[in-house]
Amino acid sequence: MKSRLVHFDLRSGLSPDAKPIQRRLSQMKGMFLDEERRAQMEAQEDTVIYEFYDLQVPNTSGDVAFGTSIIYPGMVGNEYFMTKGHFHTVLDTAEVYFCLRGNGYLLMESPEGDVEARELRAGASVYVPGRYAHRTINTSASGPLVTFFAFRADAGHDYGTIESRGFMKLVVEQNGKAEIIDNRRRRVA
Ligand code: NI
Repeated sequence: MKSRLVHFDLRSGLSPDAKPIQRRLSQMKGMFLDEERRAQMEAQEDTVIYEFYDLQVPNTSGDVAFGTSIIYPGMVGNEYFMTKGHFHTVLDTAEVYFCLRGNGYLLMESPEGDVEARELRAGASVYVPGRYAHRTINTSASGPLVTFFAFRADAGHDYGTIESRGFMKLVVEQNGKAEIIDNRRRRVA
């Protein structure tokens, strides 16, 4: 592989050089606490919740996949817009996030039930250790949460585990501010 130059706009997070993958309300069935509200919203407009880049870096252990993800502002009930979140298929592979714009959280959990949440704002970088599932959440009412990520290119994505049981914690708005609460609908494996 040769060197590669890819541009990302620091405000929008979008690249003029590649096409992002979009995740809409219709692709987030059952992922928010208030599924009824999500379905109502989808019926009105199938809004884009987030988008991210897969730049097709070769799928080897010596390569590093990278790109941005952009989570738009919004809520389903009192729960902020967020990514689906995933474990890596090669579980013990880490990831680095660097926040370019916005406000939110990077929520992490291990298969043993250890939970970590790190606050994101422009300039914050977070090292997500191997074995930890990770999800980003936009807690801003107005702007997108833009992050740049990098991980071992053959790590792979296991979305199914989180889709079937959810994260242990949720980030919701309570009394006008972001709170991290227990997920009462968490389904135990
Ligand atoms: Ni990842």
